[in-house]
Amino acid sequence: MRVGILGSGLMGAKLGMIFARAGHEVVFSYARSEDKLKRLARKAGGKARAGTPREAAQGADAVLLAVHWLRVDDVLAQAGDLSGKVVVSCSMPMNEDNTELVVAHTSSGAEELAKRIPGARVVAAFGTVPSEVFFAVYEARRRARRPSLVYCGDDRKSKNVAAKLIRDIGFEPVDAGPLRMARHTEPFTMLIAQLAYETKGGPELAYRFERYR
Ligand SMILES: NC(=O)c1ccc[n+]([C@@H]2O[C@H](COP(=O)([O-])OP(=O)(O)OC[C@H]3O[C@@H](n4cnc5c(N)ncnc54)[C@H](OP(=O)(O)O)[C@@H]3O)[C@@H](O)[C@H]2O)c1
Repeated sequence: MRVGILGSGLMGAKLGMIFARAGHEVVFSYARSEDKLKRLARKAGGKARAGTPREAAQGADAVLLAVHWLRVDDVLAQAGDLSGKVVVSCSMPMNEDNTELVVAHTSSGAEELAKRIPGARVVAAFGTVPSEVFFAVYEARRRARRPSLVYCGDDRKSKNVAAKLIRDIGFEPVDAGPLRMARHTEPFTMLIAQLAYETKGGPELAYRFERYR
């Protein structure tokens, strides 16, 4: 799969690196320095390369949106027309100092994003775990018991694309339903962040749902 990364920070850089290791063709874009993007592409190896947001989106089977909420409009403007694209977003609708959700209860960041790019097929995924855990989950991908990762969206085909990426990096995808479920997954992430960053265990934290019948 070809994956365009819009936002190559903590989330985008790590996820892009792992997608590349899992065999995908990755284009890193949107950082404050082009050198950083080139460095990431070199480190990722394979067919990874650095590009502009427009180049990352062009021909991509999936685009990962991984920027701060305040940067969403800017990166979308730089990416150009995303009509028909699968846009997988891990971006949380946070205020500037990352203390509060600025969209909640009656809507979600994912739904607001979908309104901004009405032609795109938005899936919310990857945002419910801290970036610090991704490499460890990938390393442990051959274990029988994988951690869960919830995702949601309104388009079946784009959800299948997201589920494949989720599986490729070592999680068990858990379909939470339509995009409006992001109203629940985004606040859930606040709990995960509290456990990851404000308790003693550290941020290498994932979760797993189990059913008992
Ligand atoms: N970090 C986590 O563990 C985590 C977990 C769950 C959800 N999320 C969500 O995921 C999204 C991304 O988070 P993150 O932690 O990866 O953010 P981040 O580390 O700040 O990365 C954002 C990217 O945007 C780039 N950027 C910022 N301002 C820019 C500008 N003016 N021009 C060009 N590029 C610019 C940054 O460039 P530089 O690389 O040069 O800084 C960076 O590559 C956020 O919405 C966050 O809420 C994060």
